Amino acid sequence: MENRKTVVVGVTGGIAAYKALDVISRLKKANLDVNVIMTEHSTKFVSPLSFQSLSQNMVITDMFAEPKAWEIQHISLAKKADLMLIVPATANIIGKVANGIADDMLSTTIMATKAPVVFAPAANTNMFMNPIVQNNIKKLREYGYKFIDPDEGRLACGDTGAGKLADTKLISDIVISMLYDIKDLKGKKVLVTAGPTIAPIDPVRYLTNRSTGKMGYAIAEEARDRGGDVTLVSGPCNLEKPFGINVINVNTNEEMLKVVEEKFQTSDIVIKAAAVADYKPKNYSREKIKKGNDDLILELTRDNDILKKLGSMKKNQILVGFAAESNNVIDNATAKLHNKNLDFIIANDITCSDTGFASEDNKVTILSKTGESISLPKMGKRMVAKELFNLINKKR
Ligand code: CTP
Repeated sequence: MENRKTVVVGVTGGIAAYKALDVISRLKKANLDVNVIMTEHSTKFVSPLSFQSLSQNMVITDMFAEPKAWEIQHISLAKKADLMLIVPATANIIGKVANGIADDMLSTTIMATKAPVVFAPAANTNMFMNPIVQNNIKKLREYGYKFIDPDEGRLACGDTGAGKLADTKLISDIVISMLYDIKDLKGKKVLVTAGPTIAPIDPVRYLTNRSTGKMGYAIAEEARDRGGDVTLVSGPCNLEKPFGINVINVNTNEEMLKVVEEKFQTSDIVIKAAAVADYKPKNYSREKIKKGNDDLILELTRDNDILKKLGSMKKNQILVGFAAESNNVIDNATAKLHNKNLDFIIANDITCSDTGFASEDNKVTILSKTGESISLPKMGKRMVAKELFNLINKKR
């Protein structure tokens, strides 16, 4: 985010109020200025001090507590907000706003703001499904208020059904995405691959590598937030499915190739962050291989170089590859850039223990086919993704 944005978070009185702490922590990590308004009921569930500590701003709990300040406060926060997030949003606050009631600090601020307002409801399932509540939601949606639907699951009251607060990462990701300034990938189709592939040996065993998918997922999310229409072809990894991205799960090199070839012609930008297996067992055993007394020799055969195939099919697409290297990093990466007919290659030294595979950070050099080279300091994978798109868009 170029300029520091302000999110005003409204916390209302439900058991899920404690989860708002995690949302706020994530928003702070994204360098947002967070101001919290708590309803009186919500303070019975979580102490304002917790919100104050995490948001690093004074928490407003009662508009009448400071007789001189409140009038200014609700207007100033309403003006200051780039976005308002109500988490958790009870049926009560939804009902109040839907019916024009402004009788406390939170409801007056919602009424007074011109910023987008996002509700993340959480309620007992019968309450949430009550036609009055549903009608209020429908009405607010029609006025342009946004809702992050609650999940179904076991609720605090013991009932099972819709009403569980949506995942806190999903809530913060949606907010961060809405506040993203740069929308330079609008109308662009972006294809990203991520994670490892697996090469099965028999029904229970396979060969794979240490890739976690974090780099590819960060690229896909950055592209989405910049307005891109993103397809993510993902090998098996333990990351949560990102919102707003068409995720296609694959296992093997061949499966990845099939999907990527199919999507390639209609893509504008293709980024191959996946750690694709170069070899697979020569003979797949349909039956589980039993142990014997002798050594077992596993014969491997070459598998497809997906990126090289794409390079040979390339027309107007911008094609980006990765080079995970342990020695002669720049020379090896430059050779791959040309051999595979790429526009950019991101070279990383996998011998550094605190960057690369499985790490949150990466330290890379981006090389372009026109000879530029940008060495980036160690940074979060999302920042690497941002730098990459900045460069791609500068060149387009
Ligand atoms: N790649 C691919 N298909 C493969 C191997 C790699 O599409 N079978 C892609 C990766 O997604 C990455 C780039 O090629 O973008 C480089 O991968 P890397 O493993 O570093 O290079 P290789 O070409 O496999 O060369 P080597 O393993 O010999 O270093």
